[in-house]
Formats: sequence, C-alpha cells, structure tokens
Amino acid sequence: MAREFRTVGVVGLGTMGAGIVEVFARSGLHVVAAEVDDEAVQRGRTHLETSTARAVGRGKLTQQDADELLARIATTTSLADLADVDLVVEAVPEHLDLKATLFAELDAVCCPDAILASNTSSLSITELAVRTGRPGKVIGMHFFNPAPVQKLVELVRTVVTEQDVVDDVRAFAATLDKVPVVIGDRAGFIANALLFGYLNHAAQMYEAHYASREDLDAAMRYGCGYPMGPLALLDLIGIDTSYEILDTMYRESRNLMHAPAPVLRQMTTAGLLGRKTGRGFYTYAKPHSSEVV
Ligand code: 3HC
Repeated sequence: MAREFRTVGVVGLGTMGAGIVEVFARSGLHVVAAEVDDEAVQRGRTHLETSTARAVGRGKLTQQDADELLARIATTTSLADLADVDLVVEAVPEHLDLKATLFAELDAVCCPDAILASNTSSLSITELAVRTGRPGKVIGMHFFNPAPVQKLVELVRTVVTEQDVVDDVRAFAATLDKVPVVIGDRAGFIANALLFGYLNHAAQMYEAHYASREDLDAAMRYGCGYPMGPLALLDLIGIDTSYEILDTMYRESRNLMHAPAPVLRQMTTAGLLGRKTGRGFYTYAKPHSSEVV
C-alpha cells in the first residue's frame, strides 16, 4: 500500500527551503522546518510571511487561508523535532560535507520508515544515501525557483533507491500540483544539465563586453520567449549557487561548456550574490526584492 505523507520536515530555510515549506503548507500538510539558529529561523519566517502576504494582496489567498497556512508550519533549531515526520527534504547550502553530515544526523533522529530527500541541484544523491543506514529510502527531490510557482520536481533515484519509494514520492509530488520527472543520479540531473551551459555562456558574453546585460536579457526574452533573461535568472538562482552547480558539473564531466565563467567566481567572492543580497548582475531595491533600481 502506498505511504501517506501527513507531516513533512524541511531542513534549511533559505530561498529554496522556504519556498518548499510554502508548497507543502499550501497543500494542507503540517511542516516542521529546521534551521541552524534563531536568526535563520526568523529570516525563513519573514520570507514565508512576505510570500503569503503577496498572495493575499493579489487575491490568490484569503487572509484566513494565509493565517492557517502559516499556523501549519512549526519552526525549530533542533533536528530532534523531526523524529515523527514521514518525509524530510534537505535544502541546506550546496556543500557535500555539510549535506553528508546532515544525512547521517537525520538518519539517527528520524523514524526508520521516513524517506530522506535532498533538494540538491547537482551533488550526488548516492553520496548522501551511503551516509545513512537506509540508502534505499534516500531520493533526490529537486524543486525549481521560485518553488511555489515552478511546476517541475525532479526525482533522482540512485542504484539502491527502492522502487516503491520512487513510486510513492512521485504520487506525492503530483498531489502538490507539481509535475514529477524521474532521472538517474548524474550531476545536473535533467534541467540544470541543459540550462547551465546556456546561463554560463551568457555570463561569458557579458564578461567579454559582447553586449549589455539589458540587451543580453532582452534578446532571450523577446527573441525566444523565455520568461526572464539569463543574467536576471542567474540573479534569481543566486550567483554562488550557480557557481557551485557549474563547478560540480564541470568537475564531473570536464565539459568546457560548464567551466564556470570567472566573473561568477569574482561576484561570489565579492558578495554580489544576486537578489538575495540585493546586488548581482543587477541592483535591487533591497535584498530578496525583484525590483531592479
Ligand atoms: N515566490 C512565490 N511566488 C512568486 C515568486 C516567489 N519568489 N515570484 C513570483 N511569484 C508568483 C507571483 O506571486 C505570481 O503569482 P500569481 O500569478 O498567482 O499572482 C506569479 O509568480 C507571477 O509573478 P509576477 O507577475 O510577479 O512575475 P512574472 O510573471 O514575471 O514571473 C517568474 C516571475 C515566475 C520568476 C518568471 O519570470 C519565471 O518563471 N522565470 C523563470 C524562472 C526559472 O527559470 N526558474 C528555474 C531556475 S533553475 C532552478 O531553480 C534550479 C536550481 O537547482 C538552481
């Protein structure tokens, strides 16, 4: 019989983690959301409150729905509070050591049947699975930014993921009004493997002063019908995250298409991380804003 998912956990309340929490809470699930300290919890809460307030402002949610949604989210700084969840999605920064340690900790606190999922963009799910005593119940669950809007969820199966785990998570993703696709464990999975060569090329063209950022972006929006141009998209994803994704794919394949444009590393070092810090290729009204100034 298929598993039921009633309470889910999310670890990490950055841009992706907070978006994933919102997806779950919008579907009526109870969510336990964990972060490292009170300050990070508060940042995540603010993100969720801003996003739901915007939905209320646009007439997509009533104030009562928004209040109930937020009430379904419990926040914590202790992983022990994830003991009773049916599924955990990890969404901490893209560092293998950090994620591997976390998976070992989650394995120790979560009940033995719980599924442990990672939202990693490009790291190996197999590497995380083997840090646990339940490698068959570890899967990739990769959401896209902004998570409440983008329909795709990539489900990443390893050579040891149990088939019923894939089937149950696929059925669960569909109940979240997402479109799940299943892929084996390779860097970049499907979408990032195809997308990031293009984004990297745009950063290289910008770096070579080939065209202005506005014209590069306008070309792809108005010539190809993309919802946003590549440099604006890099700002949305995060320059540091984009650099890490490219670097991981380049290390695995040595395909020059994925050798990160030097400007991405320079911007990361300088703290120009995109929308989240208020400055990337563009400058924004404030951190996390989409308003370009
Ligand atoms: N959180 C929640 N909802 C958001 C949001 C956010 N950060 N940003 C926008 N929205 C919602 C709005 O509330 C609005 O909802 P409504 O239609 O129900 O009222 C809807 O999205 C449209 O928003 P806007 O009218 O403000 O803006 P746009 O129509 O310009 O859409 C966009 C904004 C959805 C970001 C659109 O430009 C887009 O789809 N861009 C491409 C994004 C993309 O390619 N994402 C994938 C990146 S790759 C990735 O994430 C993989 C990872 O591993 C790096």
